[in-house]
Amino acid sequence: MDDARFEELRRREFSRLDAQGHVYLDYTGAGLYSESQVRANAEMLCSSVLGNPHSRNPTSLAATTLCEDARTRVLEYFNADPDQYEVVFTLNSSGALKLIGEAFPWEPGGRFLLTADNHNSVNGLREFAQAHGADVHYIPPGPELRLSGLEEYLAGAQRGKHNLFAFPAQSNFSGVKYPLDIIEAAHEHGYYVVLDAAAFVPTNPLDLRRYAPDFVCISFYKMFGFPTGVGVLLARRNVLGELRRPWFAGGTVRFVSAQNKMHMQHVTGRAFEDGTLNYLGIAAVPAGLDFLDEIGIERINAHVMGLTEELLGDMLALRHGNGAPMVRIYGPETMQMRGGTIAFNLLDPEGGLVDFRMVEQRANDAGISLRTGFFCNPGAAEFAFEYPDADAFRCIKQLTPETFNIQVFSDCMSDHPVGAVRASVGIASNRADLARMMEVLCSFRDTGCESEAGSVLPALATVD
Ligand SMILES: Cc1ncc(COP(=O)(O)O)c(C=O)c1O
Repeated sequence: MDDARFEELRRREFSRLDAQGHVYLDYTGAGLYSESQVRANAEMLCSSVLGNPHSRNPTSLAATTLCEDARTRVLEYFNADPDQYEVVFTLNSSGALKLIGEAFPWEPGGRFLLTADNHNSVNGLREFAQAHGADVHYIPPGPELRLSGLEEYLAGAQRGKHNLFAFPAQSNFSGVKYPLDIIEAAHEHGYYVVLDAAAFVPTNPLDLRRYAPDFVCISFYKMFGFPTGVGVLLARRNVLGELRRPWFAGGTVRFVSAQNKMHMQHVTGRAFEDGTLNYLGIAAVPAGLDFLDEIGIERINAHVMGLTEELLGDMLALRHGNGAPMVRIYGPETMQMRGGTIAFNLLDPEGGLVDFRMVEQRANDAGISLRTGFFCNPGAAEFAFEYPDADAFRCIKQLTPETFNIQVFSDCMSDHPVGAVRASVGIASNRADLARMMEVLCSFRDTGCESEAGSVLPALATVD
């Protein structure tokens, strides 16, 4: 591992972590911005006069130029051929997905196929599909929450109908990486393909000349922390032309007549950018991509993989005094085709579950940012927690939006988990962060834990 390089990077760009005693292990939730990005952005803003883009006055043109430069930079970063791909700026990945959902030509006889392991913002597409009479099929995960039996599910889509297949390049639940050559396989079976790259691109290169999904969604704050409120839909030009927007807005049209109730949409990606762009946010995107490029995404990947391997090894080695394992990992226990996201629950000496909320509380008290719950990925969670369909159905059915809370659901699901803990490693993580997290996990050991210095740390509390 490039330890010295990343330690220097942490001191130079992320010193606020150590200055404030933070251990940040929620990179799948959001990336952290570097100080140099903030400075580059402040300098750009302080030295520019920027107006609302898409007009011909000087300040408007200056803003338009920054947005167009950002588009070019995004295409270049993902090695996308500008003749093939359009950049549509959105609020975030969810915004990109919604654009697809509301404009895809769903139809009876068409099929929406998706992996059960998907973020809710992909699951939500099914509402559009069903409303227009398309069939919705989920692919359940196989062993280690990995993709399995894909060919069987891809088969049978009616050619000539509009079929869509959606999957994450990397699971935000288990960290499982999906083989990107399934994009081509889905094309061969007559599907358009949505690649949810939100959890993948912060630590992996994505080469759109090598793999050619029809749609890719990305949130930039997950890649480099700042700006929030800017994402992108990368869409193949020929497919974008087949989408039908259900409305128009300022910026998306060439011409509108109130008198004749007519409008003429832009033929480019602009037809999908409603209203005034977040032009100041978009202008900050190139500095974020430059930051990743300066370090090198392959190097970031190696750093994150190295730390994840150590963390996984340490967690799996945790045992209670009676020899019982302390950790249950949901997803791969090895580094093969996985990223730096680890979902887990702690176990007591009898193999019972430790409430994830207790783990979160102790992590919070120790200044450690983890994430708990379902991570907006109910499909992966349902399989990870081995929910019997009928029980989960019964428990959800008896609840309403007013009565639902996690405790009531948990009581109804009796001994099944209703959440997990997720640790995700990123660019600024180091071994000291992992050691602090391990101390918290160790505090759940029935007989306490040995610290690095060899002294025995007492168990913080008995697990009830
Ligand atoms: C895999 C994946 N897809 C989509 C999203 C949605 O991203 P956003 O909330 O930025 O729209 C997330 C966010 O966590 C994610 O991890």
